[in-house]
Amino acid sequence: MSKTKTRYVCSVCGSAQPKWQGKCPDCGEWNTLVETVIQDAAARRGPSGPSGAAAAPQPLPDIPADGYERIPVPIGELSRVLGGGIVPGSVVLISGDPGIGKSTLLLQLCAALAGDGSAVALRQAQDATSSRGEGPVLYISGEESAAQIKLRAERLAITTPNILVLADTHLESIAAHIEKTQPRLVVVDSVQSIYSDAIPSGAGSVTQVRDCSAQLLRLAKSQTFPLFLVGHVTKEGAIAGPRVLEHMVDTVLYLEGERFHSFRLLRSAKNRFGSTNEVGVFEMAERGMAEVRNPSEAFLAERLPNSAGSAIAVTMEGTRPILVEIQALTSATTFAQPRRTANGVDFNRLLLIAAVLSKRSRIRLADQDVFVNVVGGLEVAEPAADLAIATAIASSARNRPVAADLALVGEVGLSGELRSVGQLPRRLNEAAKLGFTRVLVPKSVARKLEHPPAGLEVLGARTLHEALEIALVGEAASQAD
Ligand code: TYD
Ligand code: MG
Repeated sequence: MSKTKTRYVCSVCGSAQPKWQGKCPDCGEWNTLVETVIQDAAARRGPSGPSGAAAAPQPLPDIPADGYERIPVPIGELSRVLGGGIVPGSVVLISGDPGIGKSTLLLQLCAALAGDGSAVALRQAQDATSSRGEGPVLYISGEESAAQIKLRAERLAITTPNILVLADTHLESIAAHIEKTQPRLVVVDSVQSIYSDAIPSGAGSVTQVRDCSAQLLRLAKSQTFPLFLVGHVTKEGAIAGPRVLEHMVDTVLYLEGERFHSFRLLRSAKNRFGSTNEVGVFEMAERGMAEVRNPSEAFLAERLPNSAGSAIAVTMEGTRPILVEIQALTSATTFAQPRRTANGVDFNRLLLIAAVLSKRSRIRLADQDVFVNVVGGLEVAEPAADLAIATAIASSARNRPVAADLALVGEVGLSGELRSVGQLPRRLNEAAKLGFTRVLVPKSVARKLEHPPAGLEVLGARTLHEALEIALVGEAASQAD
């Protein structure tokens, strides 16, 4: 017999309180407690081990090193982020802003894994006689109608009969369909739209999202099919619903990008089966998400060499070096307070760099508006891009272009000194690969560098001032405005 009780559950952190309060005592947020009926623990308890079966302790040396036989994913950029394929029974939560391309990417994944779609395999699967690897792919949509998904599939030129589309939000019937079709992969788009009869609170509520996800997760583990859940994000960009969602699943992926730019970055925030440093780069194209295998080349494609106000930074996205163009524009202000506008770089970082440039390199910015933009809609958070940002600003202010064959790496300190950055060899290799012949780095790391890539000259500078002397070409014109 299952007993129920009323609790007040925080919609931000998921903690349950016995009484209603204005402020959640756990996370400190206001007005987030929602009245919720909870079943007692015994009724909710599921199988204990990650495989869904009761686990027994075993000696460490007897455990196989990598017991995961991964399902290869033909989409290389996605495979890289997942850690080299999909682990059967793993649960992946993918989240991101509306319209960023989650449904598109997952439909493409379905098509890639559905095989050539021989109808025979499908029939066999429906008889539940075949093994899991031969079953169809099940795409469950709680938000879009089957016809909408068909439209998207047409746009992506997906014709395989091996993808079954189910437009349903009712957990119990979804579970029944999973049981019947024995799918090789299940996508649930989105987890916030699913509801269960057994849970009295409304669809989309914290309890519904948490408990429905938990039940889907148990199905995936016990029947060992990989499960991809789409999760919505809140205004602040966090996954909507209970925080525990992120703890329950094996992998959390974020699809990011600017709406008006076509590049999309797939990052992993958590991965039990791989590194969280990997980043996949895609471009939203006419026919779905196209892989960008050489991101640096793509980000530099429209660059105008020898134009003032443009500098190339070598930043790291996880373990992957990416060359990006930083653009700056300085122009005489018409306001009492000059404006600073940062696009793709941290605003406070821009203020700091502008202050260092004024004070240490005597570049007059006090009466200048300064705009900085990272080309391609990329966000550059790394201090290693400081030198390129500073050089781009100085280049615009002095109206002198940065040498076209030069890339820049280095953090700028408050005294105008250049500070060392990590993973220099990888950055240098990437710059050399893209045809740059010179890289300007902090002197301290230039000295330590043993084998720079062939054809690449590594220049060292101690201060920002020195760096600007090397980087900027042309006449030392009076400051343009
Ligand atoms: P979608 O996958 O529906 O986003 P999400 O599921 O994250 O909300 O993608 C929607 C956007 O992508 C929409 O603005 C149209 C665009 N799009 C393309 O540019 N090319 C395509 O091939 C497809 C399918 C969509
Ligand atoms: Mg969608």
